[in-house]
Amino acid sequence: MRVRLAEPGDLEKLVDMRAALWPEGTRDEHHRDAEAIVHGRPLSTMPLVVFVADDPKAGLRGFVEVGLRSHADGCDPIRPSAFIEGWWVEAGARGTGIGRALIQAAEDWGHAQGATEIGSDTWAENEASRRAHEALGFELVDTCANYKKSLVDLPAGEGAGVHYGHDLAEIHHRHFGMLARAGAKLLRERLQGVDPASGSILELGCGSGISGALLVAAGHRVEGVDISPAMLTIARRHAPGVQLRTGSAWTCELGEAQSRLAVTAFGEVLNYTAEESRPRPEALRSRCREIFECLRPGGLFVFDLSGPGRSGATGRRLGVWEHEDAIVYLEETEIDKEQRLTRDIHSFLRAGALHRRHREKHCLALHEAPVVESMLLDIGFEVERLDGYGDFSFGPGWAGFVARKA
Ligand SMILES: C[S@@+](CC[C@H](N)C(=O)[O-])C[C@H]1O[C@@H](n2cnc3c(N)ncnc32)[C@H](O)[C@@H]1O
Repeated sequence: MRVRLAEPGDLEKLVDMRAALWPEGTRDEHHRDAEAIVHGRPLSTMPLVVFVADDPKAGLRGFVEVGLRSHADGCDPIRPSAFIEGWWVEAGARGTGIGRALIQAAEDWGHAQGATEIGSDTWAENEASRRAHEALGFELVDTCANYKKSLVDLPAGEGAGVHYGHDLAEIHHRHFGMLARAGAKLLRERLQGVDPASGSILELGCGSGISGALLVAAGHRVEGVDISPAMLTIARRHAPGVQLRTGSAWTCELGEAQSRLAVTAFGEVLNYTAEESRPRPEALRSRCREIFECLRPGGLFVFDLSGPGRSGATGRRLGVWEHEDAIVYLEETEIDKEQRLTRDIHSFLRAGALHRRHREKHCLALHEAPVVESMLLDIGFEVERLDGYGDFSFGPGWAGFVARKA
C-alpha cells in the first residue's frame, strides 16, 4: 500500500470516493473540484492537496484532502493551520492502518507547509469518526451549532415565482441590457410626435430600469413595477426618474382607464411563472384586456413572449456567457407536452478576489405567437408581430408584439 499525491489518472476513482463521503454533492461538482485539485489549481484561496492510498492489487482504497486554513477552531490563531477537509477509507479496508497512513501523510504535508497544528471536524453524531480521530491523537476542541444569515437582499415575499436575486439582477443589469435598450428605442420611435404630457408609460417587469431611464430621458413620465426587490434596488440607482414599486405584472394596478400612452413588458415578463405552472391563456387574455382599458386611444402595448421552440429543435439549449466580472451558465429544457420550459442558471459574480456562486431556477409558461396575436385582435388591438426590437433579434420560438389600441 502506497500513500501518494493524487494524479490526473486517479480522477474517476476520486470522484467515486468523494461521492461516497459527500453524497449531497453531484458527480459533476465532485469532478470539477477534484480535477482542479489534481491539476494543482484548487478552487480555494489557500493550498489544498489530496493524498490517495494506492493498493497495487485493489487500486485506490481511500483518500485524505488536506489544506491550509488561515484559522481553524481551537488552533493557534497567529499562523495558518493544516486542516483535514475530507478523510475516507473504503468500508472493507477500515481498521487496517490505511486511515492512519493517510492522516500521517496529511500531517507531514501540513508540517512542510509551516503549520504547527492540524485541525479536523466531523459530525457530532458520527461516533466512528470521532473514535478514529481520538485514536490518532486529535483532541476535541468543541462541538458547535452552525448558523448562517444572508448579507445580500435575496428576493423575499412571493416565494416560488420570484426570480432575479441580488447577483443575477446585477449581472443582468451589467451585461444583458441590450433587449431593454432596443425595446426603449423602438417605443421612442413609435411615440414620435406624441405629446409626452398626454399620458404616462407603465413598464411591467421593469427590471433594473434600463428602458425606463431611456424613456424618461425622452421626456416621458414612466412608472415601473417588478417582482424582484434586487432589480428594483438597482433601478432606484440607475433610473431615479422612474416611479418604481414592487409588485406583480399580473395583479398590480394598471392605472386609470385611458391614462397610458404605452405599457411595456420587455424580456419575457409575462412568461415567468411559479414552478410547475402551465400556461394560463385565460389569465393572459384577461390581463391584456385590462391593459387595453388603461391605454389611451392610439396607445401601445409593446411586449415579447416565448413560445414552443424557444429552446431550439432539440428542446434543450446550453449557454455560457463569460465576462471579466461574471460568468453565467444556463441550461434550458423545454417540456413540450406541457408548454413550459425551465432554466437552470448558475452565476459567478466577482466579489473581491473571489467569485460568488448563485443558482436560480426559472420557469416559463410558453405561449404560441399566432394564438397570442388572435387573442389581441379579439380584444380590439391592431397587431404588428415583431421578430426583434430593432437591432435586437429574438431567437426561435420568441416573438414580439406592438398592439395598438385603435
Ligand atoms: C428578463 S428580465 C427583463 C427585465 C427588463 N424588462 C429588461 O428588459 O431589462 C425579466 C424581469 O421580469 C421580472 N418579473 C418576472 N415575473 C414577474 C412578475 N410576475 N411580475 C413582475 N415582474 C416580474 C423579473 O423580476 C425581471 O426583472
